[in-house]
Amino acid sequence: MTKPLEGIRIIDFTHVQAGPACTQMLAWFGADVIKVERPGSGDVTRNQLRDIPDADALYFTMLNSNKKSLTLDTKKPEGKEVLEKLIRESDVLVENFGPGALDRMGFSWERLNELNPKMIVASVKGFSDGHHYDDLKVYENVAQCAGGAASTTGFWDGPPTISAAALGDSNTGMHLAIGILTALLGRDKTGKGQKVAVSMQDSVLNLCRVKLRDQQRLERVGYLEEYPQYPHGEFSDVVPRGGNAGGGGQPGWVLKCKGWETDPNAYIYFTIQGHAWEPICKALGKPEWINDPAYKTAEARQPHIFEIFKTIEGWLADKTKFEAVDILRKFDIPCAPVLTMKELANDPSLRASGTIVEVPHKKRGSYLTVGSPIKFSDLKPEVTASPLLGEHTEEVLASLGYSKQDIFNLREMKAV
Ligand code: COA
Repeated sequence: MTKPLEGIRIIDFTHVQAGPACTQMLAWFGADVIKVERPGSGDVTRNQLRDIPDADALYFTMLNSNKKSLTLDTKKPEGKEVLEKLIRESDVLVENFGPGALDRMGFSWERLNELNPKMIVASVKGFSDGHHYDDLKVYENVAQCAGGAASTTGFWDGPPTISAAALGDSNTGMHLAIGILTALLGRDKTGKGQKVAVSMQDSVLNLCRVKLRDQQRLERVGYLEEYPQYPHGEFSDVVPRGGNAGGGGQPGWVLKCKGWETDPNAYIYFTIQGHAWEPICKALGKPEWINDPAYKTAEARQPHIFEIFKTIEGWLADKTKFEAVDILRKFDIPCAPVLTMKELANDPSLRASGTIVEVPHKKRGSYLTVGSPIKFSDLKPEVTASPLLGEHTEEVLASLGYSKQDIFNLREMKAV
């Protein structure tokens, strides 16, 4: 089967998570992704949090599958020459170095555009160009704080809180992938490449869109009725942390199930969708609530929503999270068990769909990773192992016209 991105060559000048997540996804969809790494060390994540001595860490293998690895010292003149050749023959260059690193290396946007006017140059930075913080280096949690996620996550009586989801890293990579694909389509029309830039702050803020909605509502009316602070608590002039409250018009909360005393994940998320009130009452064995004016409407329920959640917890007390969801699903109630990483890793449905995949690796044996979350009718992305450091150096150099002797010389000079 021909993959949609076959024939697109990508210079993958990325490291850590934000950039690699982007190029990995493009590789799954068929792009020829050549990861350019510093000789001897490579992407820092190869060594970070190793669980097997002398084998690439999972941090690396889970973000760099389906790629080739070319070692190249792009600060040496001989290395720069190789990179220039590669640039002339590639469609996209993706990078997420600290601010100014590519310019310092001698590859500014202007220079890249001169070398290959059809090439798309895609960058991740912490902050967008021209932002007053655009000189800052940024990691995940910094971005979550800068993008509004931390101030709105957690409980009102605790500090700003970081999400475990990579809102700053992988999320920014996904935004960048959309930008690259858009620029590739644009190039089909104009014949020209362009610069695509995504900042981690902007990408986090994009996911916090509803919190900016809430800020404006708060400024207009002084309260937010779907937050636990309403109606008994206080609101200041900024969107507060709402704990586990539902983000939209549907109240919801994380509720205890059987075994919560010893199992920290014996919980479900329960949503009280307005039009599902009748089935909820039936499911809970509380038919008298259906037409009771104190419960009938969402507005009437809100002042005592936690008392309602308590009642639901009473109903859940003798049911595991899985049993509870099996009952509630029959009543069309939006809910889910709180799943652990262990449960997800062993979930047969996720294995069958290719969302959790086991990948054989030359040095590690096999490891689990998250496969493509995007499913197609005509493409089944297959996940292959991440490359060893420099595994494809000779192959890539040969494809650029370097002879065996040239490659030997480059190695002698420690340029590759
Ligand atoms: N050959 C020679 N030098 C190389 C090289 C190669 N193949 N690849 C990278 N380098 C050099 C760069 O030129 C740069 O050198 P310089 O600073 O002397 O100009 C250096 O290695 C890399 O610098 P930097 O990217 O700043 O690394 P860092 O470890 O100090 O910072 C980050 C890491 C992630 C904080 C930083 O890269 C960053 O802010 N990136 C943008 C935001 C981002 O993506 N963050 C999230 C990552 S998940």
